[in-house]
Amino acid sequence: MTMSARSGFRKRTTKSAAQTVREGVKLAEALRPGDIVLLSGDLGAGKTHFTKGILKGLGAAEDAVSPTFTIVNEHRTGRMPLIHIDVYRLGDIDELYEIGFDEYLTGEAVTVIEWADKFPELAELPGRVFRVDIRRRDDVDPDRREIRTYLPGPDNGEDNKC
Ligand SMILES: Nc1ncnc2c1ncn2[C@@H]1O[C@H](COP(=O)(O)OP(=O)(O)OP(=O)(O)O)[C@@H](O)[C@H]1O
Ligand SMILES: [Mg+2]
Repeated sequence: MTMSARSGFRKRTTKSAAQTVREGVKLAEALRPGDIVLLSGDLGAGKTHFTKGILKGLGAAEDAVSPTFTIVNEHRTGRMPLIHIDVYRLGDIDELYEIGFDEYLTGEAVTVIEWADKFPELAELPGRVFRVDIRRRDDVDPDRREIRTYLPGPDNGEDNKC
């Protein structure tokens, strides 16, 4: 896969958790400080596994684990920090700001948010916003996933080269 598209959409199919991790690794190549990755998809779709790949792609020493209960996990051992957030348990977006969301958006880190579609306003955040939707395809195979990635558009981020 190449990430040379200036904007657009791509669809990939994975047949194992490891393949979904690899898709995250590939996306990491395109990421720059300040970027936001919004992950959507049902329970167990693979959002955390995709994030494991992003973190691996950033060269971090540790593995990503689900922030479902911690809400935020901070990783600072890769080529740039990764802030991994899960909004599944939050009642409304104000709770995200109450835990210091603004301070994470300083432009130094990549921010990955699981269950981001719960709060559609997240898609309106300034800067480069990537959206990744992971769908289970249990109808085909229990390990099959479709991963749709929407790259930042021309009206989203000052420099859309990715
Ligand atoms: N192709 C695949 N891609 C990703 N995960 C897969 C795939 N096939 C099977 N799995 C399994 O599906 C599960 C995905 O779990 P993961 O925690 O990544 O999902 P999630 O979307 O983050 O879930 P949650 O909604 O609880 O946050 C894992 O048990 C993984 O092994
Ligand atoms: Mg998860």
